[in-house]
Amino acid sequence: MPENIFPVFDRILQKEDKEKLLKQKAKVIWFTGLSGSGKTTLGLALEKELFNKGFLTQILDGDNIRSGINNNLTFTREDRRENIRRIAEVSKLFVNCGIIAINGFISPTDNMRNIAKEIIGAENYIEIFVNAPIEVCEKRDVKGLYEKARKGLIPNFTGISSPYEIPKNPDVEVCTDKLTIQESVDKILKFILPLIEYRYVKL
Ligand code: ADX
Repeated sequence: MPENIFPVFDRILQKEDKEKLLKQKAKVIWFTGLSGSGKTTLGLALEKELFNKGFLTQILDGDNIRSGINNNLTFTREDRRENIRRIAEVSKLFVNCGIIAINGFISPTDNMRNIAKEIIGAENYIEIFVNAPIEVCEKRDVKGLYEKARKGLIPNFTGISSPYEIPKNPDVEVCTDKLTIQESVDKILKFILPLIEYRYVKL
């Protein structure tokens, strides 16, 4: 704990108070996968479904976070780790506010994903591996970045000049080269709904 800093966590309303108000359980749904694997697409589709079911969510996504709060970070291993650390801290604020965070970040290494899990708390962290072979992501090349990376115009590009470690124990894996968007969303929903549904038990 830094010197002269006195957090007041003991005096503020608890996560449970806010979950009760919102009638939901707050979690961080953390999508990891290569650029172009489908994290953003699935995050947006999932948010829509959850919204229609009455859940309050917040999307945090690589491209918007990196143009705002994290616009001073590059794609070196250290900066990616700092990117993930800050996002995890922000997600924790949402979770403590009773809100379901839907995060889409490459988060390429076990170490980075573990940092996120530790900050958020294992009980609130749900890992979704958005799995598409690099050849498929490269063929999709939604943002034209793979082409640039192959030409050497983007340093440290994940999957080309920077590693992506396959998650060892994701809660859900969706192979977006085999499933439709709806099939992937359904698979994710099946896993997360029981974890976010609020059940008021009267004693
Ligand atoms: S992470 O590795 O730190 O988790 P993050 O998800 O925030 O990455 O950002 C990834 C997005 O940044 C990609 O979808 C892509 O649009 C863009 N980008 C720019 N440069 C790179 C790079 N060198 N490697 C990967 N993605 C990059």
